[in-house]
Amino acid sequence: MAFKALAIFASLVSLVVAVPQATPDSATTASIKCPDGNIAPHSACCPFFALRDDMLEHLFQGVCGEDAHQAVRLIFHDSIGFSQEMHAKGIFSGGGADGSVLVFPDVEANRAENAGISDGVQGQLPFLANHPVTAADLVQFAAAVGITNCPGSPRLKFFTGRPNATAPPPEGLVPNPADSVTKILARFDDAPAEVVALLASHSIANADHVDPDIQAVPFDSTQNTFDTQLFLEVLLKGIGFPGSANNSGEVSSPLPIGTTAQPGELRLQSDFALARDPRTACVWQSFINNQELMQNAFVEAVDKMSRIGLAHPENLIDCSVVVPQPVAKVTKPATYPATKSFKDIQRACFAAPFPSLASDPGATETLVAGQVGT
Ligand code: HEM
Ligand SMILES: *[C@@H]1O[C@H](CO)[C@@H](O)[C@H](O)[C@H]1NC(C)=O
Ligand SMILES: *[C@@H]1O[C@H](CO)[C@@H](O)[C@H](O)[C@H]1NC(C)=O
Repeated sequence: MAFKALAIFASLVSLVVAVPQATPDSATTASIKCPDGNIAPHSACCPFFALRDDMLEHLFQGVCGEDAHQAVRLIFHDSIGFSQEMHAKGIFSGGGADGSVLVFPDVEANRAENAGISDGVQGQLPFLANHPVTAADLVQFAAAVGITNCPGSPRLKFFTGRPNATAPPPEGLVPNPADSVTKILARFDDAPAEVVALLASHSIANADHVDPDIQAVPFDSTQNTFDTQLFLEVLLKGIGFPGSANNSGEVSSPLPIGTTAQPGELRLQSDFALARDPRTACVWQSFINNQELMQNAFVEAVDKMSRIGLAHPENLIDCSVVVPQPVAKVTKPATYPATKSFKDIQRACFAAPFPSLASDPGATETLVAGQVGT
């Protein structure tokens, strides 16, 4: 419902702050010189050069660590806060990609559905205070900048022109890992391919709150790299839990063994279900060992998510030129973790061949990568 809501919400001008209309430059290819000397396609892009450099140095600090992970998660928790269903009933339905997580830092960050976003929110607030940009643009831009520290990341697009949030969204719009596939897809306007593409984000992710006893438990064996291992590993048979069993939203993992400092891999019930559901299984499988397909699908899905709830998405100004180049490419093919092979795959898509992959050497379970930078 959220995606389809764009057009309907567009007619509701009175509920939103008008997007400042920057004067178009003489031609679409024209460029201007910013006061700081940077060349931009439009003057509206100028503040983002200094913001980019400030965040690279003082927030992300050269690693694909907690702050980069959090920034990528925050675009989801901000943007998904919009409901077409509620809007149709005349109930305030949230502003979508409106920066409400930063404008009202004590509201959404304290809701159980957003458990874990407060560090990301607190980390970004000083940049909002020091740079002349809206909260909504800052949330989106931070993800585009932060993810470039993760080897294998694509270069996301970035558009400016989102107004500041006027109110926090109602509670209950953020999908939960215990939700059904049907419920999750509905929150994304039943766009299964795009939901799967967005979950490439879980290749640079870990959980602090799913199992309350263990922290920074990753979803794949390479949490510091934006690669396709997530899509492979979520299809492996689960054999145990990195911590306690019976946590809501968690199912058994193929790599449960870890150390105190670095617990094994954790599997979300939602990732498990989306990998095996007939509506999503073939898109899921298609990303395994296809870095470029995954990257491109992620770029487009993030761009779409970044427009949820906007009154005039067509008026956004393309400032993608400000987004840095990713630090490194991933050239290593996807591999089965040591001791695993095709026999451990719970295949759910039969319309395409399953990719042929090597197994990492070793007679014992692979230990998952720890989080860098902390
Ligand atoms: C489809 C529904 C989704 C569900 C149910 C879900 C659920 C979760 C959960 C439970 C966590 C762990 C939080 C914690 O315990 O600390 C998490 C982490 C994360 N999620 Fe999702 N997620 C979904 C979609 C997304 C999307 C669309 C994105 C971004 C495009 C995203 C990006 C992330 C990232 C980057 C993390 C790691 C944060 C960190 O390491 O600090 N997720 N997700
Ligand atoms: C948006 O909100 C932030 C935080 O309240 C504020 O610092 C900023 O000046 C606002 N920007 C605009 C354009 O209203
Ligand atoms: C976990 O859940 C299962 C099934 O609901 C139950 O049989 C078991 O006793 C639970 N274990 C713990 C430790 O709560």
